Amino acid sequence: MGVFASTEDPDSTGHEQVVFCQDKQSGLKAIIGIYSTALGPALGGTRFYPYASEADALHDVLELSRGMAYKNALAGLDLGGGKAVIWGDPDKDKSESLLRAYGRFVQSLGGRYYTACDVGTYVADMDVVARETSFVTGRSVEHGGAGDSSVLTAWGVFQGMRAAAEHVWGSPTLAGRRVGVAGLGKVGKHLTAHLIEDGAAVVATDVDQRAIEWVRATYPQVDVVNGAAAMVASDIDVYAPCALGGALDDDTVPVLRAKVVAGAANNQLAHAGIEKLLADRGVLYAPDYVVNAGGVIQVADEIEGFNFERAKLRATRIFDTTREILQLADAEGVPPAVAADRLAERRMADIGRLRTIHLR
Ligand SMILES: NC(=O)c1ccc[n+]([C@@H]2O[C@H](COP(=O)([O-])OP(=O)(O)OC[C@H]3O[C@@H](n4cnc5c(N)ncnc54)[C@H](O)[C@@H]3O)[C@@H](O)[C@H]2O)c1
Repeated sequence: MGVFASTEDPDSTGHEQVVFCQDKQSGLKAIIGIYSTALGPALGGTRFYPYASEADALHDVLELSRGMAYKNALAGLDLGGGKAVIWGDPDKDKSESLLRAYGRFVQSLGGRYYTACDVGTYVADMDVVARETSFVTGRSVEHGGAGDSSVLTAWGVFQGMRAAAEHVWGSPTLAGRRVGVAGLGKVGKHLTAHLIEDGAAVVATDVDQRAIEWVRATYPQVDVVNGAAAMVASDIDVYAPCALGGALDDDTVPVLRAKVVAGAANNQLAHAGIEKLLADRGVLYAPDYVVNAGGVIQVADEIEGFNFERAKLRATRIFDTTREILQLADAEGVPPAVAADRLAERRMADIGRLRTIHLR
């Protein structure tokens, strides 16, 4: 995979900038990937993960930063796409000096990249990073941060699901539908609450017994099933993957009975081509990065000084964006995932182009 855009190398990624950062003393090895700043500074979290190799770390940061450009574009943000990875074991290698060294590298980019939390990094870590850089968001409430982003993530997923329901059944509600929520974590719990309030019948599963106990105690009307495979094959109208990536694969799609898939999990399609398989089976897939953008909307709002109502309003617009994507998909005869990519690319080109208008 080449980083520079090339017509000869079909796997070239076309990233604007990729920065390798090392501080031997603290053990920091980080890669910051900036895919695009066409819409504004690149925003994306920092993943702290024990990759098997430097090549794996590079591959991940390139994929993730590209994904953020598309997600931020469709979330209507004036932000480009970036992401960072720290190569190491967060349980063993994370230290104040490592995080602060990382913060200094983020600062050295002068605001081309804003960082935030991701797998392996937490709000408290961002407070440490922020001691060396002003280009960090997703901070603790005590430091003016927005706090737990799962609140607006769940709200946005619910909005996307409503738009999908409207597209399939003619009315923007889940009332009377059976919705399978796979993963009752931070997002899944909030989503379950929205669905029940809307009048849906919820079926849930989780591998963690504590999550099952929570749902039994909080919502006794929820049907608990044993495992995502059982849920997928059961009589559900909507499938909401809210655990890990790869929920839609070659085994799942052929047995899926739901007419709609809309959930919070990132990278739900196990590989390219699954979106076509879903479309061929008449399943409407609301692209994950469109419907789960509530979290990034929340942390992005923090850059302006966090205002929950303003951020919620923006996350509510995920309904309109999902509707537009589904209509475009029908009009252009492509799966929604392809329509979403086209819409994101259009916004990056249309708005990014305005920078060519000379100001002074
Ligand atoms: N939190 C956010 O703001 C946010 C934003 C965008 C995307 N996401 C994505 O949404 C998903 C959920 O995020 P979260 O913050 O709720 O995470 P979480 O860790 O709080 O919850 C995940 C839940 O899934 C359960 N789980 C794990 N494997 C499972 C399996 N095989 N079957 C059923 N349940 C399983 C876990 O026990 C846990 O309860 C993740 O993929 C995350 O990347 C989250």
